[in-house]
Amino acid sequence: RKLVGKLSTGCEEFNEMMGGGIESQSITEMYGEFGCGKTQVAHQLAVNVQLPPEQGGLGGSVVIIDTENTFRPERITQMVKGLSEKHGVEYDPEEFLKNIHVARAYNSNHQILLVDSASELANELKDSDMPVRLLIVDSLTAHFRAEYIGRGTLADRQQKLNKHLHDIQRFGDLFNSCVVVTNQVMSKPDAFFGDPTKPIGGHILGHTATFRLYIRKSKGDKRIVKLIDSPNLPDGEAIMSITTDGLSD
Ligand code: GTP
Ligand code: MG
Repeated sequence: RKLVGKLSTGCEEFNEMMGGGIESQSITEMYGEFGCGKTQVAHQLAVNVQLPPEQGGLGGSVVIIDTENTFRPERITQMVKGLSEKHGVEYDPEEFLKNIHVARAYNSNHQILLVDSASELANELKDSDMPVRLLIVDSLTAHFRAEYIGRGTLADRQQKLNKHLHDIQRFGDLFNSCVVVTNQVMSKPDAFFGDPTKPIGGHILGHTATFRLYIRKSKGDKRIVKLIDSPNLPDGEAIMSITTDGLSD
């Protein structure tokens, strides 16, 4: 087993709650209502992972499996500019964008196949100066939720989702990579999916995701991130801000 890496979120409180940062070789699940900031955190991690370890990064590149077409290069550029100011260094946003490999997933089967493509790429880059150190699946569940409707297909959905999670866990182990997935909760009770405060996917995700983060909106640009049921860390809460420059305390 390789030494576990810790990836900084850019927010001190958040990092401390996570025991230093987002861990490699584990799945971290972020869940919460629409607009709570899951995709924003994902963008920030895609930037931070490229920094050297002294600056909270893992000196690597990132693969994003984008299922909702919400990846925004302009947002990366803003965040890199924010980082340049913070560190007093002129980073080149284009250099950062080069190390973000985005794959659009058109349906759940395609999403599953893209993990194989991600593995191929990670194999190619394994001995390069930018090995893949972060895999993001945003959103993990949206396609599954849209495609599998009706009682009869529920077991089928869970089985597919479960296998998908095993594949991405294996990716994390094999490449000493962080794996971050997003999952929405419903703002209103849903006749089929039930309890609105529970993430879609129910306990299958509950068992697989090593770190579960519940994000909710607070005042203005503030967000509350809650760590829930981690096997080796106490439950906790952290406050972060989503600003033009990216995530901060
Ligand atoms: P769903 O994917 O719909 O479930 O939502 P999400 O959790 O992914 O939310 P997302 O990360 O897209 O957060 C959207 C929120 O982030 C917005 O309402 C803004 O508050 C904030 N945000 C997004 N883009 C910017 C930006 O460019 N600048 C600033 N300051 N805030 C932004
Ligand atoms: Mg999103």
